[in-house]
Amino acid sequence: MPFERLSNVLAQNLAELDKQGTRKGQESVITTVIRAEGEKGPRYLLKGEGDKAFLKMNSNNYLGMSLRPELIAAEEQATRQYGVGPGAVRFISGTYEPHVRLEHKLATFHQREAGMIFSSAYATVVSVIVPLITTETAIISDELNHNCIINAIRLARPKEKHIYKHLDLAGLETSLQRAATNSRRAIIVTDGIFSMRGDHAPLPEIVALAQKYDAQFPENVIVVVDDSHGVGAFGETGRGSEEFTQATGVDILVATLGKAFGVNGGYVVGKQVLIDYLRESSAMYIYSNPITPGEAAASLGTLEILESAKGQGLLKHLHKMRLRFKDGLVKLGYETLSGAHPVVPLMVRDTPKTAALVKHLYKRGILATGLNYPVVPKGDQSIRFQISADHTAFDIDYALEVLAAFKG
Ligand SMILES: Cc1ncc(COP(=O)(O)O)c(C=O)c1O
Repeated sequence: MPFERLSNVLAQNLAELDKQGTRKGQESVITTVIRAEGEKGPRYLLKGEGDKAFLKMNSNNYLGMSLRPELIAAEEQATRQYGVGPGAVRFISGTYEPHVRLEHKLATFHQREAGMIFSSAYATVVSVIVPLITTETAIISDELNHNCIINAIRLARPKEKHIYKHLDLAGLETSLQRAATNSRRAIIVTDGIFSMRGDHAPLPEIVALAQKYDAQFPENVIVVVDDSHGVGAFGETGRGSEEFTQATGVDILVATLGKAFGVNGGYVVGKQVLIDYLRESSAMYIYSNPITPGEAAASLGTLEILESAKGQGLLKHLHKMRLRFKDGLVKLGYETLSGAHPVVPLMVRDTPKTAALVKHLYKRGILATGLNYPVVPKGDQSIRFQISADHTAFDIDYALEVLAAFKG
């Protein structure tokens, strides 16, 4: 088939990204993982970089779970027992015992009636939000919500869509007042942790507003929180933004197994009737495979660690390293944002300087993510560091030393 004319258009689209400086381009390929040794945490070798070992400060693996030998063993054991993949969707013959055990354990962990797993948190959000939105529903969403929420709303057909300014409770209340005259159901949806900045949603206040206006909607006002960056990394026992803010009354909680859990996949927890309904109506549950039995077994292992003294120790170490890094940044005269999440933004507020600093770090073996417009608003250009329980004091001090040497 001729492809020429379309090829030209696609090439033009790519050239446009080059021109705007927003093309992600070639990805770094990790060829070797060097395990933690002595005073150093894990290091990574990249294709084309020879034996230069990189310190990862841009991973969502906040607790360092992905390299833990007991989780690798749990995944291996389940894989031997059940095979490398589920071989079918859940309701055909793709449901294995570790899937069911994990769903129960996640519900218990979050003190909810029931849980349900998906192949990713992205798939979970789409699969939860789309079936809950009717043509009589108002959806109300924070402007900085993750792309999966934005696309889920695009895929659905709400009666009304309200986007409020980031964390703006007055804006949220106005949206509820407007929706009350038109819609039968209202869904407020927010990230728990906003991953670009590491700040969190004021969940108790959001729930209070939902309760204030609930009687005006025949099918209730419900609150949906995607706490993919929060669970495992935030709150005293790793139960995320709900625990940190002491929120009760969040109706639907979504999170990922692919960040602090160190594995892969996503899940939702909530009322039994909600989960029963979603099993009958979520396209990505009905028509798409679940995670592998091995991934489910490894995730069960993560939960076990999280609920043990070992997990508490990892969380403590993570936040000790976060504080060491943050204090160090401030001492060096860098600007950061307040917050207790292991996402630590270094505010540069200038595009060329951000690029130069990322390059400086990379040259010295540190992986960190530069965030430029349009990913973040103009003026908010920054470098996102993500602290992990894998990091040692030596690693943090090395990163600070490299930052101190930057002559921007
Ligand atoms: C808020 C939020 N939701 C969902 C996701 C996607 O998670 P997953 O990789 O499990 O699809 C992310 C990841 O960046 C996220 O930050």
